[in-house]
Amino acid sequence: MGSQGQMLGGRRLPASGWILFAMAMFGIFAGSSLPAQDAYRKGSLTDAEFNGKKMFQQRCAVCHMPLVIDDSRTWGPALSAETVTGKEPVVREFIRRGTVRMPGFQYGLEPQEIDDIITYLKTVKKTEPKKAPE
Ligand code: HEC
Repeated sequence: MGSQGQMLGGRRLPASGWILFAMAMFGIFAGSSLPAQDAYRKGSLTDAEFNGKKMFQQRCAVCHMPLVIDDSRTWGPALSAETVTGKEPVVREFIRRGTVRMPGFQYGLEPQEIDDIITYLKTVKKTEPKKAPE
């Protein structure tokens, strides 16, 4: 009788259980809009660049990043440092206003958020140009 009570009392949730739980929660959160495996990796990015990256993944990647399985095309052009460097004011205005094929973000993003996205895009290397479908 006494020994049984001790067995029950000796049971506790191992610390590793909590770590796994936390990892699972983070995985669900990070996976919610994950076009590529490293979507939310900060790496060597500055805070502004990382913020811009997260914003880009959430708001722009759907049109400007290739799909995971069929990466043969994107709706919008691939964006990189080359697209934005030296043209920041034009690009900022472009993102604010949009076009017939791209929504404008003047009411959807703070000016600072748009600037962060541009700052992030300056860290992106140019990839093979993808043609938007006609
Ligand atoms: C609904 C799809 C869509 C979304 C979402 C979208 N874009 Fe675009 N974007 C386009 C298309 C399409 C073009 C090509 C311009 C055109 O055809 O009107 C474009 C063009 C651009 C260009 C100009 C590229 C060039 O070389 O001329 C920039 C810069 C740009 N987008 C940035 C962004 C940013 C930043 C976001 C997120 C805040 C974003 N876009 C969200 C579809 C989109």
